[in-house]
Amino acid sequence: MAVQDFEVKTIFFYYLFPVIALLLLLRVLKYLKPRLLACGCNAIGKRIHAKCATEKEQLFRHLDRDLPHHKLQILEIGAGSGLNFKFYPEGSEITSLDPNQHHKKYIETNRDKLNPKVHLKQFVCGFAEDMSCFDNESFDVVVETFVLCSVRNTEKVLQEVKRVLKPGGKFFFMDHVAAEHSSSLRWFQNRLNPLWKAAADDCHINREIASTINKIGFSSVEVNQFNLNTFIVLIKPSIYGTSVK
Ligand SMILES: *[C@@H]1O[C@H](CO)[C@@H](O)[C@H](O)[C@H]1NC(C)=O
Repeated sequence: MAVQDFEVKTIFFYYLFPVIALLLLLRVLKYLKPRLLACGCNAIGKRIHAKCATEKEQLFRHLDRDLPHHKLQILEIGAGSGLNFKFYPEGSEITSLDPNQHHKKYIETNRDKLNPKVHLKQFVCGFAEDMSCFDNESFDVVVETFVLCSVRNTEKVLQEVKRVLKPGGKFFFMDHVAAEHSSSLRWFQNRLNPLWKAAADDCHINREIASTINKIGFSSVEVNQFNLNTFIVLIKPSIYGTSVK
C-alpha cells in the first residue's frame, strides 16, 4: 500500500503536475497576449506617433481635399489604438479594422480624447487581406500607418484597399521600409529581419512597400521619403504618401 501511495505521489508530482501547470500557464498566456499587445500597441504607438508628428500633419493636411465634405467615409486598417483620429475631419464616419478585438476600448477612449467630433461607425475585428465584410467602392478614404510592415500579404491588402475605395477615393499610407538596395543598412535589415520579426510581433524591416503600392494599379501614387526620428536605425527609412483609385 505504502509503495503504491508513493508511486501515485511520484507520478503526480513529477509527471502530471508539471503538465497541468504548463497547460494552465499556456491558457493564461493565450488570455493575456492579445490584451498585453493591445496595451503595448497603445504605448508604443504613442511614441512612434510622436516621432513622425510633422510628417503625419503633412500627410493628413488635405485629407478632405477633392472629397465630399459631409460624412466622409473613412476606413482605417490596423487601426491600433486609434491615434490617427486626431487628423480626421469633423463629421467623418470611421470604420476601424483590426485583428485584435482588445483595441476597441483604446480606440473608443482615444476617439473621446482626441477628436469627439468624428463618429466611430463600427469596429470590425479582422484582417485586411480579406475585407469581404465590406462591399466594393464603400469608402472615400482608406488609411494605414505602420501596418504594412506586419501584414501577412502586402499585395493582397493593397488589392483589397483598392477594391473597397470609391472611384477617385484616396489611400493614405505611412510606413517604415527597406533601405536602399546596396546600402549597408539594407544588408543589416536583411540579416536581422528574422530575429526582428520574431521579437516584434511579425513586423518586417526590409519590405519595399512603395514599389508594391506602385504595382497595384492606382491611377496615381505620390510617395515622400523621410527618416523616422528614432535611435533604432533599422526602422529609420520611411515613406508617406497618397494614392488615388
Ligand atoms: C468587386 O471588385 C472585384 C475586384 O475589383 C471584382 O472582381 C468583383 O466582381 C466586384 N464585385 C461586385 C459585386 O461588383
